[in-house]
Amino acid sequence: MSVLGDEVAAEAKLTFPTGFLWGASTAAFQIEGATADDGRTDSIWDAFCRVPGAVAGGDTGEPAADHYHRFAEDVASLAELGFGAYRFSLSWPRVRPDGGPVNPRGLDFYDRLVDELLGAGVTPWATLYHWDLPQALEEKGGWANRDTAHHFAGFAEAAVERLGDRVPFWSTLNEPWCSAFLGYASGVHAPGRREPAAAAAAVHHLLLAHGLGMAEIRRYAPSAKAGVTLNLYPVRPSDPASAADADAARRIDGLQNRLFLDPVLLGRYPEDLLADLAPFGFDGHVREGDLDLISAPIDTLGINYYRGYEVTAAPSSAAEPAGPEWIGAEDVWFEPDPAAKLTDSGWQVQPEQLADALVRVHREYPAVPLYVTENGAAYPDVADAAGEIADDDRIAFVDGHLRAAHAALAQGVDLRGYFYWSLLDNFEWAEGYSKRFGLVHVDYATQRRTRKRSAHWLSRVATTNTLPP
Ligand code: NOJ
Repeated sequence: MSVLGDEVAAEAKLTFPTGFLWGASTAAFQIEGATADDGRTDSIWDAFCRVPGAVAGGDTGEPAADHYHRFAEDVASLAELGFGAYRFSLSWPRVRPDGGPVNPRGLDFYDRLVDELLGAGVTPWATLYHWDLPQALEEKGGWANRDTAHHFAGFAEAAVERLGDRVPFWSTLNEPWCSAFLGYASGVHAPGRREPAAAAAAVHHLLLAHGLGMAEIRRYAPSAKAGVTLNLYPVRPSDPASAADADAARRIDGLQNRLFLDPVLLGRYPEDLLADLAPFGFDGHVREGDLDLISAPIDTLGINYYRGYEVTAAPSSAAEPAGPEWIGAEDVWFEPDPAAKLTDSGWQVQPEQLADALVRVHREYPAVPLYVTENGAAYPDVADAAGEIADDDRIAFVDGHLRAAHAALAQGVDLRGYFYWSLLDNFEWAEGYSKRFGLVHVDYATQRRTRKRSAHWLSRVATTNTLPP
């Protein structure tokens, strides 16, 4: 059962708490372009894009939204739309090309971006790692190699030392689940490896990187609010009365959610996960003191929410087997909800489960302020005869999720903000430019920006702090 009550069903006007932070999110590789400017070298995504068939349409990090050269226009847009905050990421191979010495020209870009944001009255929220590992470090083993966590600390140090005086919010990592399991187990994301044992190692080394990165943030920006961003998806058994389905749900929930929440917030890996992951040598990577670092207190937990999962051990004909990213749980099946609408990504629209995710963290873990750091949807976004992009499906999507967020607030969840993914249409990883998530449409041929109807709608919500009935 969902935690949503009548409040969400009723078309009521909903007001958010004073000071609620409204914003939009992006990530460096997805929007910047300029992949060879000012000393930047390859990330794993530059290399992955060159692998035939890896990315839809053969798309690459060029031109993306050319944000590297158009950031001032994009910041102006954020300010005009009345968003209080902007979440972006720093490109590691700009800041430390090849994972080597600091490249001041790479850092200069983020310096300019942060000053532009502050000048426009928009609060910067910086993510250190949004998936663009320097390719040179991948060639030394990538996240399967413990040294990468220490390289990350050096990147964090350079970034926070330069920007920590002006950036009040930091995330160490974005969605480490994707980095580990899509990158190293299913290989649908860079670096494209299909090695479950490497994925298990990557989980721990990413979490270690989080812990080491937190220490750098504390050192250079002691008053900043810092934490990590996780993609938390509620997992339900298809038949709650079935012990086999309940176990399928336990395993998928474990890999998706508890494997990251527990070490960060409780200082330990879940016992059942340690057993499930033993065949992949997981616990062999965990050294004395690691969990103390990983569980150092955080000030914010970022939650990215897109959908939930219904899983079963006894599939219907419509069910899909868990892919190779679900290491050790490939015998589990995912059941589609025939009633759910789908986004252009084929993802089920399940707003009520955002409330479930938020309430679950609130109830099961020590108190920490929560932010929805991503929520959004891809739709085809075709301009009408008048040139308007009337993306009412996206408006309905966000409206539903904001009602769910509000329902979570009503249940006592300490939710402090909501960031839409994404400010701009951008490079949607393995889907290339074929999926548009933006509030602002980007014509990649001309780089012309056009605000969609949803941008104006969310602007009104943000500036009034109220969701209209
Ligand atoms: C999660 C990721 O953080 C972001 O990079 C991606 O584009 C969106 N979700 C949509 O898939």
